[in-house]
Amino acid sequence: MAEIRIRNTNERIQGEDNVRNFLEKQEVLYEHWNPGKLPAELQEKFILSDEEKSQILSTFDAEIRDLAARRGYRTWDLIALSDATPNLDELLKKFEQVHTHTEDEVRAITAGKGIFIIKGTDDVGYFDVELEAGDVISVPEHKPHFFTLMENRQIVAVRLFIETEGWIAHPFADPTFQQA
Ligand SMILES: [Fe+2]
Repeated sequence: MAEIRIRNTNERIQGEDNVRNFLEKQEVLYEHWNPGKLPAELQEKFILSDEEKSQILSTFDAEIRDLAARRGYRTWDLIALSDATPNLDELLKKFEQVHTHTEDEVRAITAGKGIFIIKGTDDVGYFDVELEAGDVISVPEHKPHFFTLMENRQIVAVRLFIETEGWIAHPFADPTFQQA
């Protein structure tokens, strides 16, 4: 289950309902899929063939289509990142800059872990959302954020889009950004 850490206070929020309530107030959608639907060998695999990628997408086809229908997403794909990814460090450096998009950033984690750093309302400031397999998040358009990996440095996630251009990152220069 996802966990929240508020950067200002180091306060942690745990438990599915607490996490969902907190994120709802921040206008971030949080849902949960059953990662146990995946065959065991795919639950811990981070280097995937095209066939395995299709298998993961078809395992969660009903969940993907349900989310897409409710939220207006039209396309989706699957990404896998791990130390086997060429230039992973460079890629992560590029990720770790606060930015916005003109559409929601949607990730459904099917294996591994990841973390979204999001600029919350003024009373909250920046907060981290630590995600694991089964966690589904949608960061709304125009909300400053970035994404990075956690210490295990591996993740597989479904990404959903309205249109690919919407995914372009617009840098968000923020003097109030709170480094971890
Ligand atoms: Fe983003």
